[in-house]
Amino acid sequence: MKKFSVVIAGGGSTFTPGIIMMMLDNLERFPLKKLKLYDNDGDRQGILGEALEILLKEQAPEIEFSYTTDPEVAFSDVDFCMAHIRVGKYAMREKDEKVPLRHGVFGQETCGPGGIAYGMRSITGMLEIIDYMEKYSPDCWMLNYSNPAAIVAEACRVMRPESKVLNICDMPVGTLRRMSQIIGKAPEELEVRYFGLNHFGWWTSVKDTEGHEYIDQIRNYVSEHGYLTQIEVDTQHTDPSWQETHKKAKDILAVTPDYLPNTYLKYYLYPDYVFEHMKDHPEFTRANEVMQGREKTVFDHAQQIIAKGTAEGIAFDIDAHATFIVDLARAIAFNTHERMVMIVENNGAIANFPDDAMVEVPCIVGTDGPEALTQGKIPAFQQAMMFQQVTVEKLVVEAYVENSYQKMWQALTLSKTVPSAQVAKELLDDLIIENAGTWPELH
Ligand code: NAD
Ligand code: G6P
Ligand code: MN
Repeated sequence: MKKFSVVIAGGGSTFTPGIIMMMLDNLERFPLKKLKLYDNDGDRQGILGEALEILLKEQAPEIEFSYTTDPEVAFSDVDFCMAHIRVGKYAMREKDEKVPLRHGVFGQETCGPGGIAYGMRSITGMLEIIDYMEKYSPDCWMLNYSNPAAIVAEACRVMRPESKVLNICDMPVGTLRRMSQIIGKAPEELEVRYFGLNHFGWWTSVKDTEGHEYIDQIRNYVSEHGYLTQIEVDTQHTDPSWQETHKKAKDILAVTPDYLPNTYLKYYLYPDYVFEHMKDHPEFTRANEVMQGREKTVFDHAQQIIAKGTAEGIAFDIDAHATFIVDLARAIAFNTHERMVMIVENNGAIANFPDDAMVEVPCIVGTDGPEALTQGKIPAFQQAMMFQQVTVEKLVVEAYVENSYQKMWQALTLSKTVPSAQVAKELLDDLIIENAGTWPELH
């Protein structure tokens, strides 16, 4: 079998070790020749790089491993770039979550004003790594996890329409794993129909390979417990705040009982509830929970490996749900035509939705990339919500391209999470100060 060369952009990410452990676990399905880490923060990446170098020498010495901050070294001679950068790192995620609170609005990584602020930062970093990839490995595919995926995907559609960038999210896969537990089936046996935007969608069907429909059974469960399941299905979405989110799916389902909701809809359907919860501990948001949790654990493990000079007995968790990335890389490399939920240009996949919207739908993926499966017409409620939200995402990208204060103000005003144009303006002025140097100048 052919062996592949992969660069991970955002090598210093808290998810890097988990993804590498997952790839080591899947070498029979996706053999690796070279594995490189790339980050623009050499110190942060260096800790993970040094530890992973020790680990890989012990567990997979045949893979050529390296880490670098030099784009030419990183992006030359690679088949796939797995990207998960966070422009501004955790310091800025904290601001995305905390600045809106001053204005009576919740703050979140990808939704509402926090997501809009992050989007404005992310576009620059994403365009930079896409351009490096195309310069040094023109045939390479980028499998991009970097958030906010909806805004990043729209920015790619507008500014890099020919680039081989696939934007993906692990939430549909992660939630499907929960559903598979609810009905006692393996996730690989399930096929879904789904429509929406990133972090903004609904499942309309969950069937097994024989065509048996499980949506009623799952709905009954979710209407009582949300997506909380007995056994945890991954290591990522287990902290108290995530448990709360899985549970809240019960109330989201109550609004649109026909379809199973993505948990992120809680930010749009229950923004007041989210704000009330955050208001009680404005100094401790999800960013703090991650910094004290996942980030600390991952970097502590790395430091221990470096100190001992061996990874024996110091395990990084395997990021099991991220097998999605290997499945996707395989689909492209081996033309498997596997079915996966991805973020793509609509072009009729959702019949009563604009062609030029970046939507999240099931696709068949092969060597030429994804082909969207048609999901038919969607109900007015979802269509209206999605149209409002996709327009927010488009306005952010237009604001970026045109350096337009006006469009950014409109984007915040239109967001279902912001109560008025007045609040949007005050929030925008605050965000401009807090994001100084990381946003394009707006005027
Ligand atoms: P992190 O801050 O730990 O890691 C991000 C890394 O990116 C940092 O080491 C940082 O130095 C680096 N970076 C920032 N800007 C860069 C640039 N221009 N070029 C190269 N490197 C750059 O963040 P994390 O919590 O591990 O998350 C990483 C990313 O993955 C985030 O964007 C997060 O939202 C995303 N994510 C997405 C999904 C999804 O469903 N799509 C799932 C999980 C994580
Ligand atoms: C899910 C979403 C990602 C998001 C992540 C945040 O996996 O699909 O888009 O980045 O959650 O998780 P965290 O643990 O960093 O809050
Ligand atoms: Mn996501």
